[in-house]
Amino acid sequence: MRDDQIEGIDYFVDLQPETEDFLATVLAGLSQQQKTIPPKFFYDANGSKIFDQICVAPEYYVTRTEIALMNEIAAEINALVELGSIVVEYGCGSSLKIRALLSALPDPAEYLAIDISRSHLIATVQEIAADYPNLRVGAICADFSDALNWPKEAAADRDQRLAFFPGSTIGNQTPEEARQFLERVRHLVGDSGNLLIGVDLKKDTDVLNNAYNDAAGHTAEFNLNLLHRIKHELGGLLDISAFEHDAFYNEDLGRIEMHLTSRLDQSIEIGGQQFNFQKGESIHTENSYKYSIDEFIELAGGSGFGSVKAWTDADDYFSIHYMAAI
Ligand code: AVJ
Repeated sequence: MRDDQIEGIDYFVDLQPETEDFLATVLAGLSQQQKTIPPKFFYDANGSKIFDQICVAPEYYVTRTEIALMNEIAAEINALVELGSIVVEYGCGSSLKIRALLSALPDPAEYLAIDISRSHLIATVQEIAADYPNLRVGAICADFSDALNWPKEAAADRDQRLAFFPGSTIGNQTPEEARQFLERVRHLVGDSGNLLIGVDLKKDTDVLNNAYNDAAGHTAEFNLNLLHRIKHELGGLLDISAFEHDAFYNEDLGRIEMHLTSRLDQSIEIGGQQFNFQKGESIHTENSYKYSIDEFIELAGGSGFGSVKAWTDADDYFSIHYMAAI
């Protein structure tokens, strides 16, 4: 562990997360029966730029619906959250959401961001610190899916801890992984802690399918960017145009699945290893689970969080849950 001084913020703890080896993960994933590459590899600099375009695509209701809902319920959140809470954000994504929260809070005492990407983390917390001069701001560079302890630099004597996990990022995990993750969040916030979490709702299949198949093709480009990375970073021998973006709602499992599907029988080579594809065979690249309000409350209940209030937008597309440790 290293404690560095970072200009503009109050403390920075670097847990030096193991950045997973892209090559090793790809080789292992493509050796499985159902070939897979985990979604965290989408987000290189190019992929993060494409993701920003997805977030403003007309079909992708997720981001704009959550931000509008956050702003709509700001006064209610303000009334629920205790004065001087410390807000812990898991994965600092779009700073629009944390801004909506910080502006809603009664004199927030402290903001602590956790993210695996050091440069993205530092840039985000420095901006927040500059714009909220009365706010104590800290950062932990860590893989938030690992167990975390409360950093000694954070105001440890303060009881009120609020974990913030927006974006329905929880949907990338299977329900059992999500339950285990929320158990660790519960441990971090303690017995009087709270959780504010954005969760995408089950809804009409066409709306879901369109959100992951936008007409401008941003989602396809985002998915195919994995093949660009394999080609350019790992020197993979493959023809990107021999694969296509495939995203669909799997109703039985309640999740969107994204795949890169082979257009033909072919063999590709990565790191000196050959991988064979039959026409129609795929690399599974992402799951995005959708939960009804009750399903999510039940899931979180298994991790030690009880529902205080849940809000949805007028179309019932997206939900935000405020929960308390039980
Ligand atoms: C960032 C995981 C919430 O699942 O909707 C968007 C990622 N993938 N379009 C999602 C994503 C394809 C997104 N999350």
